[in-house]
Amino acid sequence: MRIDTETIERIKQSAQIAEVIGDYVSLKKKGANLWACCPFHGEKSPSFSVSPAKGIYKCFGCGKAGDSVRFIMDIEGLGYGEALRHLAKKYGIAINESPLTDEQLQAQNTRESLYIALNYAKNYYQNTLLNHDEGQSIGYPYFKERGFSDKTIKAFELGYSLDNWDAFTKTALQQGYNIDILEKAGLTIRKPEEQKQFDRFRNRVIFPIHNVSGKTIAFGARILKNDKNQPKYLNSPETEVYHKSAILYGIFQAKNAIRNKDVCYLVEGYTDVISLHQAGIENVVASSGTSLTLEQIRLIARFTQNITVLYDGDPAGIKASLRGMDMILEEGLNVKLVVFPQGEDPDSYVRSIGTEAFITYIEQNASDFITFKATLSLQEAGNDPFKRAALIKDMVESISKIPDGIKRSVFFKKTASLMQIDENVLIAESNKITLENLKQKDKEAKRQPLPTATQLQQDLPAGVSLSVEDLPSFSEDDLPTEAYITTPQAPVTPPPAPPIGTALHELECVRLLVNHGAKDADPHAAPGVSLMQYILSEINEMNFKTPVYQEILTICRQKFLEGVVVDTHYFINHPIPEIQQEAIHLVAEKYSVSELWLSKHEIIVPTETEKLHQMAYTNILRLKKAFNDEHIKTLMTQLSSSKNADEQTQILLALMEAKNLEKQIAKELGTVVAR
Ligand code: CTP
Ligand code: MN
Repeated sequence: MRIDTETIERIKQSAQIAEVIGDYVSLKKKGANLWACCPFHGEKSPSFSVSPAKGIYKCFGCGKAGDSVRFIMDIEGLGYGEALRHLAKKYGIAINESPLTDEQLQAQNTRESLYIALNYAKNYYQNTLLNHDEGQSIGYPYFKERGFSDKTIKAFELGYSLDNWDAFTKTALQQGYNIDILEKAGLTIRKPEEQKQFDRFRNRVIFPIHNVSGKTIAFGARILKNDKNQPKYLNSPETEVYHKSAILYGIFQAKNAIRNKDVCYLVEGYTDVISLHQAGIENVVASSGTSLTLEQIRLIARFTQNITVLYDGDPAGIKASLRGMDMILEEGLNVKLVVFPQGEDPDSYVRSIGTEAFITYIEQNASDFITFKATLSLQEAGNDPFKRAALIKDMVESISKIPDGIKRSVFFKKTASLMQIDENVLIAESNKITLENLKQKDKEAKRQPLPTATQLQQDLPAGVSLSVEDLPSFSEDDLPTEAYITTPQAPVTPPPAPPIGTALHELECVRLLVNHGAKDADPHAAPGVSLMQYILSEINEMNFKTPVYQEILTICRQKFLEGVVVDTHYFINHPIPEIQQEAIHLVAEKYSVSELWLSKHEIIVPTETEKLHQMAYTNILRLKKAFNDEHIKTLMTQLSSSKNADEQTQILLALMEAKNLEKQIAKELGTVVAR
């Protein structure tokens, strides 16, 4: 089913970028843009920017960029059509669709088919719970006994699977679902050798597991009565859409509350999440009994920097969770810990003491992780000096992982007093560890060398030197903001290597065209002359070497001949994805002039638009210089390999001409740059 252009336009207009992305990460306003830690790669300081005015996002760490549709495609792993449908649903825009034909069903990629099958299964189990006799007499009373209200059952889309070998699979097949997809979704188990296929979940209550946007991606299924021969919970296997280590149970239902309360409660089980939620404590997710992973921590970090771990009182469980908490610290998040009385978990405890008392309990018993670990280990170590020494080392290691220096020093003080040891001993120990880590990092870095300035220099044609001005900039009015001075954090996927030489100036030229082509180049001296016209006439017949820039240039030329001056909007909505992507990269500005900076230094910064003409002129000169430099280089090579005297003369003449041009350009550049 194709969605008609008009509907696509409506969807795109309704899908405000900040709102769409805000569903997945917490955006903070800074200047004209909104910023967050990138949801596509792990990072501690935000380099993911969203421009509401332009309707685009760009991550300056990993390079991902696009509009709201692209964002949904990337974050949900959907195709273009599915992403549009997703947004249409969010904004209540109707898409007229006839039922899928067999071919279309087939054509949909597996991922999308899996989502459809999983959603079908979720509805099936939910319907069985609410409308089937067995669901009503066995499943529903179980939930009621556990104190779940109808509202809760609905909010978590709880269900029930019949006590039958293949009730679900049979029904799904009848409805036209493909057996391969059912198997891939983890719903049906096949034993081809015995020619058998049966339901994975039988005679259990069902807890659907949702991804951040609320799609069902897996199930947890609990047995009703204790049975030593069967596991209490059965879970979906890993599938193409369910990666256990990357998801947290309840994140969809909790994300807004986590953002609002600015803290996330982390519990162990499905029922803990549900009971707390029902008690009005909605900022809670579960790691589902497994140890916490980095991906899960990063998922939480999209919404808050504060995690409070609510674990059962049993010592084994607490010990097992210590590593996870170290990881939270390492990610630069704040972690607190609450331990419940023996035999209680958050689910049982909140039901026994009630919401208010529960919240008070958390407030009074939350200890920061470091203090907790120290106390716990101190009890264990007793007076054994060896154990105490090992413990100190262990504590220092935990503290050393905290990226923030101020936080670190607070914890050194605390630990020093808890352990009755000189703070300086701890700091010295920490420095040792940090040094070790640096050495390790250095070793790793040496394996993958980055080009140095000198190396880049060697790639340039003779006589051309790389100056600071030549470094790629997104905008000339980029000013140093704190983004420049933060220390480098954990390695991220490097953005594409910055272009050098000719490509760099081509980039700047195309950037000017895409951003400002439609504006007047010099509104005072020549009102009505667009920058597009100015640049196109200045660069005349010159062509670019970088294919995508050349393509954009060609589009500008063609459109200009048709009498149309294309603007930014035209490019960032361009139907050719490569052009659109490139345009988005060119339009996104990394640093908006910080108001703070301005007021602090009382500096008036001319915005880019105020000096378009000069920027374009300088750029064209640099472009010409780069082309000329390459030309000179080619001529030199020709000269050295030529054996014919006439030919050599010709080359020398050409060289002289080129050298003259070089001088002219240099002179021009000198005056322009000095201005
Ligand atoms: N779990 C699991 N498989 C098991 C046992 C536990 O996947 N065999 C996971 C479930 O996500 C469960 C969590 O670990 O919710 C915590 O386990 P547990 O404390 O035993 O269960 P509760 O959530 O307390 O469940 P209930 O209250 O229903 O016993
Ligand atoms: Mn429990």
